[in-house]
Amino acid sequence: MAEKKAQLSVDGIEETIDLPVYEGSTGPDVVDVRSLTSKGIFTYDPGFMSTASCESKITYIDGDKGVLLYRGYPIEQLAEKSDFMECCFLLLNGELPSVDEKAQFIDEIKHHTMVHEQIRPFFNGFPRHAHPMAIMIGAVGALSAFYHNDLQIDNIEHRKAAAVRLIAKIPTLAAMCYKYSIGMPFMHPRNDLSFSENFLYMMFGNPCEEYIPSPVLADAMDKIFLLHADHEQNASTSTVRLAGSTGANPYACISSGITALWGPSHGGANEAVLTMLNEIGDVSRIPEFIDRAKDKEDPFKLMGFGHRVYKNFDPRAHVLRDAANNVLEELGLTNDPLLPIAKELERIALEDEYFIERNLYPNVDFYSGIILKAIGIPTNLFTVIFATGRTPGWVAHWHEMISNPFKIGRPRQLYTGPTFRDYPDK
Ligand code: SDX
Repeated sequence: MAEKKAQLSVDGIEETIDLPVYEGSTGPDVVDVRSLTSKGIFTYDPGFMSTASCESKITYIDGDKGVLLYRGYPIEQLAEKSDFMECCFLLLNGELPSVDEKAQFIDEIKHHTMVHEQIRPFFNGFPRHAHPMAIMIGAVGALSAFYHNDLQIDNIEHRKAAAVRLIAKIPTLAAMCYKYSIGMPFMHPRNDLSFSENFLYMMFGNPCEEYIPSPVLADAMDKIFLLHADHEQNASTSTVRLAGSTGANPYACISSGITALWGPSHGGANEAVLTMLNEIGDVSRIPEFIDRAKDKEDPFKLMGFGHRVYKNFDPRAHVLRDAANNVLEELGLTNDPLLPIAKELERIALEDEYFIERNLYPNVDFYSGIILKAIGIPTNLFTVIFATGRTPGWVAHWHEMISNPFKIGRPRQLYTGPTFRDYPDK
């Protein structure tokens, strides 16, 4: 890394502290503050607004320009020309696959889509109405119980096996969550179908009749997975890295990522957007909700708006808005009452000073729910779809960290609690 310098002078510390500054291949420089501990001082950055937790080569976001690159390739071009399986290979390996490499990767994934038969009774422990994210957190963590011979994280073959198993099995578990919730039999995956066709088959097929996945829906599903595949050091990916830094097995780490993703400020927002659009119910009520979003006394936020990094449009929202139009048109659902509400809400919000001042634009979650609803995915499964798409990104970051020298993540704090005091004599 090319090294520049920063100088820090702190009241109470005599000498000026020299800190190395590193430049990335693009994006902001970083100041290496590791030496500060030896000076008896910490940096303070709740929410990690200005903190680079690691070096990575996987995904780059320029929040001001609304740029998102998977290993250098812009998301718009990948959404148009690539597919989810190819992006999984790209995120994991750093380069686009050759024709043979892609075929081999797809074949490997296909031959790991089934889950152990003893996972099936695991579902019976849950109430039928359990939120599918609760089941996924449990089921994905439980996978480690079935691969205890392949869990040495310093063994690259074990890491590769875990990557394939997680990408291949999470959609199967996701579809099992849905089938369990409606009392329908689980569908075995089919190797004659593409990743996204197979997912739709496991979701909507049944043993009594043939189910042929619609190419339109399969394409929309694949685009949804692709657009969610990775996003730099977001909360759930950072959770996976932190869990991985302790040496925890990859299934436990991905389960921790699913846990973090569930929150409505993160991956849970796509479900919350649909709930919000249904609550608004009519374009005439949009001003009431805009006012609530601006009212500091009201905890309501406009779900699907705002982003920690994008201070411009989330490029994924642009792709998804166009895809939503196409899917609804192709399915003859242009009269979906939620789409005009979503579009009017976007228009009004983007003209409102409050949102303009705070750079609050639609994010990936704003339109994804409309497409998922058109595909027939139940609302409470939306975040499970997000987790299924994000699995290659989580795994790629976990693998990148473990493949390089790493230290256990252990932040410090600004302590403002009681100082030393003796226990009172009784
Ligand atoms: C994802 O990090 C990632 O990359 C995540 C993600 C990924 O792919 O992994 O992109 C996926 O999580 C997308 C975000 C989905 N979440 C939502 O749509 C929920 C609604 N959005 C907000 O909760 C919020 O915008 C966050 C959590 C997304 C970002 O919050 P920040 O960066 O901490 O910003 P903030 O909460 O400090 O907001 C700054 C200001 C505040 O007002 P002031 O105190 O300055 O007056 O903007 C306001 C906030 O109140 N604000 C909103 C708002 N989002 C921020 N006001 C109304 N509605 C909103 N949605």
